[in-house]
Amino acid sequence: MRFTGPTYLTQRSFRLVALVTFIFASSLSSCSSSLEEELAPTKPKENSSVDVKDPAKGSGSDAGQGTSGQSGEGEGSSGEGAAGSGEGAAGSGEGGSGSKDGAEDGKEPASDPAPTKPGTPATTPGAPATTPGAPVTTPGTPATPALPAQPKPATVVPLKSAFDFPVGAAVVKELLEKPEYANTVSKHFSRIGSESDFKWGSVHPSKDKYTFAKADAVVAFAQKHNMKVHAHTLLWAHDGNEPKWVKEFQGDAAAWEQLMKDHIYTVVKHFKGKVQSWDVVNEPIKEGGVYTNSIWYRKLGKDYIIKAFKFAQEADPQAKLFLNDYGQEYGGKKMKELLNIVDEAKKQGVKIHGMGFQLHTVLRMEAKPIMTNLKLAADKGLLIHISEFDISVKYGMPATFQLSDAMNKAQGEKYKEIVSGYMKVVPKSQQWGITTWGVSDKTSYFNKGYPNSDHDYPLLFDRNYQPKEAFYGFLNAGLGK
Ligand code: XIL
Repeated sequence: MRFTGPTYLTQRSFRLVALVTFIFASSLSSCSSSLEEELAPTKPKENSSVDVKDPAKGSGSDAGQGTSGQSGEGEGSSGEGAAGSGEGAAGSGEGGSGSKDGAEDGKEPASDPAPTKPGTPATTPGAPATTPGAPVTTPGTPATPALPAQPKPATVVPLKSAFDFPVGAAVVKELLEKPEYANTVSKHFSRIGSESDFKWGSVHPSKDKYTFAKADAVVAFAQKHNMKVHAHTLLWAHDGNEPKWVKEFQGDAAAWEQLMKDHIYTVVKHFKGKVQSWDVVNEPIKEGGVYTNSIWYRKLGKDYIIKAFKFAQEADPQAKLFLNDYGQEYGGKKMKELLNIVDEAKKQGVKIHGMGFQLHTVLRMEAKPIMTNLKLAADKGLLIHISEFDISVKYGMPATFQLSDAMNKAQGEKYKEIVSGYMKVVPKSQQWGITTWGVSDKTSYFNKGYPNSDHDYPLLFDRNYQPKEAFYGFLNAGLGK
């Protein structure tokens, strides 16, 4: 279905778009690692998980059925195109009320992600999709509004220089060996994370074996360049993401708890004093406030989350510990349940210091509800980390989609709006910072390992590591321009 409304989405449409964002983030999260194209240019795209990654399956009415996130990945979920085809995809997302998780669990989550302010405009404020005379990029796709370019300093100043809080990038260890990548990271970012080098499968590939070389290299890079480290993640609540040996582990609840404790103790202690903050549990809650049906949930019940925080705290009392998730920036039961976990932990004497909002977002999504929910978490006294920030522009576009000048500028404005909003609604003392999920569009995880998905442009630097409008939008938020 095409969206033809002028500047406002209907409440239903908005909810649908929010839902498709959940679904999108969910499915992206579950992708298996693929070697960076840059590192293995001749390696054909790995489509081993094509069932959950085929964008084609994500469009249309299948979008809500377990593959919908892939619509987000390849063809859909983001960008201006969403104004045109997003509703169709989102609508089917709601119809299916599904996500990969729903399919995985065999049960449907309540369709929940209602915006906090129904009826608020879904287009970028000041950038209505229907600006008269705005250029239409592709026949059949909506107009991208003509926005001015970002003001630019005479020379490219380090992004980090404009902010009091850490500006982070999640890196890939192997890419740090590439000078243009490493130079961009060290020049512009004051904190480093890793897309996958701290995950269970990377550091603990079998029961009695820990392999820290990659994560150690990331930490060494940070130390060399005087950067902080935020590590991601001790547990990832999706079954698809913990290693096979863990899922096949046999034992009673006490043995499972011991397994989790050993992992957390060993990993956190290894990095004690070098890693300032951790994502302790990633993506524990799904749409509708339902607990992700992970191996940890099945074996230990929902208290596994609080136990994980307790173990991390014991292992490194100085580290700041985060509950990280996607889509809660649109509120609803998911956000509510995450806050319940924080309260429950407090009752049990366990501190959850902060909340990570992944914010894999899409160009057309409105920033206002995001701010409402950042504030909601900040009002609890939590540190707030935008932990996996990027703005996809490809939704609804053909596989060969190229970034237009108008979209580039609209993306710059969106970056500025979200970063300025964060600075406004989160008190300074709670601004744990903003981390982008990657560095250059060339190696963004949006552009890896998925069929037809190598033409997205979600990040601050282009494929030649040149700053985009997105970079200047982010920078200008810090400079107050
Ligand atoms: C992704 C990495 O970027 C990919 O390289 C890897 O193949 C799969 O995981 N949300 C998360 C991250 O919390 O862990 C995911 O990272 C991206 C979505």
